[in-house]
Amino acid sequence: MTIDRRAIITGIESYVPDYVLTNDEISKMVDTTDEWIMSRIGIKERHILKEDGLGTSYMGTEAVKKLLAATNTKPEEVDMVICATVSPDMLFPATATIICDKIGILNAWGYDINAGCSGFIFAFETVRGFIELGRAKKVILVCGERMSGMVDYTDRTTCPIFGDGAVAMLVEPTTDTSLGIQDSIMHVDGIGRHYLYMTGGGSLYPATEKTVAERKHYIHQEGQPVFKYAVSRMADVSVEMMQRHNLTPDDIAYLVPHQANLRIIDATGKRMGLPKEKILINIERYGNIAGTSVPMVLWENKDKFKKGDTLILSAFGAGFTWGSILYRWGY
Ligand code: UT7
Repeated sequence: MTIDRRAIITGIESYVPDYVLTNDEISKMVDTTDEWIMSRIGIKERHILKEDGLGTSYMGTEAVKKLLAATNTKPEEVDMVICATVSPDMLFPATATIICDKIGILNAWGYDINAGCSGFIFAFETVRGFIELGRAKKVILVCGERMSGMVDYTDRTTCPIFGDGAVAMLVEPTTDTSLGIQDSIMHVDGIGRHYLYMTGGGSLYPATEKTVAERKHYIHQEGQPVFKYAVSRMADVSVEMMQRHNLTPDDIAYLVPHQANLRIIDATGKRMGLPKEKILINIERYGNIAGTSVPMVLWENKDKFKKGDTLILSAFGAGFTWGSILYRWGY
């Protein structure tokens, strides 16, 4: 099939809550230190949405408002809204629909995508399909996480890791097929369900006093097996993308990796043969914002990218899910 249009990001904005949770503060909650967190994970601080009564849709809506203003887009022009999240406001309705209501987006359809920390990568690939088929022209892809609502702040193995925030992107078609999404490689391996999960609150374990007492409504992660899978799979898929397109490190402007652990990012960059300045990192200031990590890095560096820059976007997350997108910056 000949592709005569590509999906490109034509605007990107973010929202992060004001409150900054530092390692020193976490060290007062659990038996840990700034030194351990920095050396084992690479996180110094993370933004946390503290206010009661606010969830992921609040942050997503703030990001979308900025996006509409920055791109001079009217809510009625938007024809699709996809929200990538593992921390929706509620199981249903979809957070995408709540954001549409809060913004006044009335001519669109949309839904949520739950793909763990690969949320953005999987959602962007989904949006690409609609754009390339000519089924959508102005898509808002909003990634948002209130991870702090699922974190057990008495568990030192998980509580330093996660942060909150949202990023909204406008994705549109371009007839310049050298720009936008060029290729993707996506994977799942359900073995991951044994290592990274939150069992409570779904249909298997609906909320009861027992599920609360058993702390089932918190993230559970077995760090080491997740680390081992993440470090090999994220590097494998990034290298495979390079080989598929005969790319050398010189051809790649930047690697935009999921921000779960600095050691995983370093290992991926090393396998790709990239120098440090081509590996974009912000984990120190945001922690792991799940599927919002990759777009947060894109947003932070948007002024650095030049039209035509080749980016490799790579992520790994719960499921397991993982994937890589070959992207050429479009504006
Ligand atoms: O984003 C989705 C995908 N997720 C990931 O990619 C995360 C992958 N996993 C990791 O990043 C790492 O496994 C963690 C950062 C979660 C943990 O680091 P680790 O080097 O794998 O530590 P570990 O689980 O092997 O634990 C080593 C030791 C243990 O003590 P013992 O048993 O050796 O006495 C832990 O109890 O470190 C201890 N430990 C801590 N010590 C101080 C665990 N958490 C902490 C802590 N502070 N916060």
